[in-house]
Amino acid sequence: MDNKQITLNIDKVFNFVSGEQIFSQANRAQEANFRLENGNGKGNDFLGWLHLPSSIDNSTIYDIQKTADLLRSKCEIVVVIGIGGSYLGAKAVIEALSGAFDSLAENRPLIVYAGHNIGEDYLYELSTFLAGKSFGIINISKSGTTTEPALAFRILKKQLEEAVGKEDARNRIVAITDAARGALRTLAGKEGYKTFVIPDNVGGRFSVLTPVGLLPIAVAGIDIKSFIDGAVFMEKATGKDIAFENNPAAIYAVTRNLLYQQGKKTEILANFNPKFHYVSEWWKQLYGESEGKEHKGIFPASVDFTTDLHSMGQWIQEGERTVFETVISVANPKYHVEVPKDEEDLDGLNYLSGKRVDYVNKMAELGTQIAHVDGGVPNIRIELPELNEYYVGALLYFFERACGISGYILDVNPFDQPGVEAYKKNMFALLKKPGYENIKI
Ligand code: PA5
Repeated sequence: MDNKQITLNIDKVFNFVSGEQIFSQANRAQEANFRLENGNGKGNDFLGWLHLPSSIDNSTIYDIQKTADLLRSKCEIVVVIGIGGSYLGAKAVIEALSGAFDSLAENRPLIVYAGHNIGEDYLYELSTFLAGKSFGIINISKSGTTTEPALAFRILKKQLEEAVGKEDARNRIVAITDAARGALRTLAGKEGYKTFVIPDNVGGRFSVLTPVGLLPIAVAGIDIKSFIDGAVFMEKATGKDIAFENNPAAIYAVTRNLLYQQGKKTEILANFNPKFHYVSEWWKQLYGESEGKEHKGIFPASVDFTTDLHSMGQWIQEGERTVFETVISVANPKYHVEVPKDEEDLDGLNYLSGKRVDYVNKMAELGTQIAHVDGGVPNIRIELPELNEYYVGALLYFFERACGISGYILDVNPFDQPGVEAYKKNMFALLKKPGYENIKI
């Protein structure tokens, strides 16, 4: 790997918070990072993610790759079942690193998702699509009791067993769950499925570097070793011994908290490459579930530019001045496409002929940044040298570390999610689930 790395640029927040203000918070950020590393902060029984990149051993990587290769050889389609932290990391990486039209091409296996909603039509359509095709299932649930994936698995397991028989179905199903607890662990043991463990001390939204993310990513044909290498680099680059001014995660965490204190209550993660759409979805869960508690926390929103400049762009430019933007940019595209010259020039685009499409995109990005900053929207910019496994691994770990630091600066427990239980209690009572008879709604 060359020396190019992800860079963080906060120049365009200085009209809103000064460099001095940011530096005045250096000790606070360092202290938060120390608490993460020393394990003496809130939620310290969920810090297993912190050193995941550097602690993944070769035998685990080998086992994941071998299992992925087996699924790849047996299946045209692999259904990844999971919700929230049990699917978004894999989906984010797979979408970021796959060709835009791979699903229409003959690339195999095709990865599809289930268990992330309770749409009856979705399940019907998926089931119909799978009929007559050779498919396998990766069933992911840490608790092993989540309703959405459990429902999807029950339906698809039956379909698979009816299609290929119980014995072959067993070889096409992999379960990723808790080491000892939960219905999925029991079922996997009884059926003899290949299993991987989600460590006790890693929460769902921080699990992309466990088999939860790595197995589906490997099945998609993505180089997990390089993905992990990028995360290892960022683990070192954001460690507690790195000075504040050199630690991008600490600077990002401080900057966003200072903006929040100034009334910038919403952070919009923007990209100029549609492949980042699900990275944004993953990021929204990471920050929303980690920080939105005790009636505080920045609201994480996202847009895909330039697409959403033709819709949400109006709001961002002239709506309520309570937002700031964090833009993910890629310095160099993978491919080269130039604007062709046209003799008639009826569309008036000849002034761009010979220019790369990415040049047009970069000018859109710069023009947007200037307009939004002028319009009162502070701008943080994260640049990846290229869109590849290594930099995506580094990017996701960067956001995880920054989230831990940011949550501690905000003085919440970034590693729990008590609020997600409220709807479940009501739903179970309404569904008359045994044990919920006495819940009053
Ligand atoms: O981040 C989280 O903890 C959640 O999003 C969970 O991952 C999600 O609710 C799925 O839970 P489980 O893996 O237990 O099915």
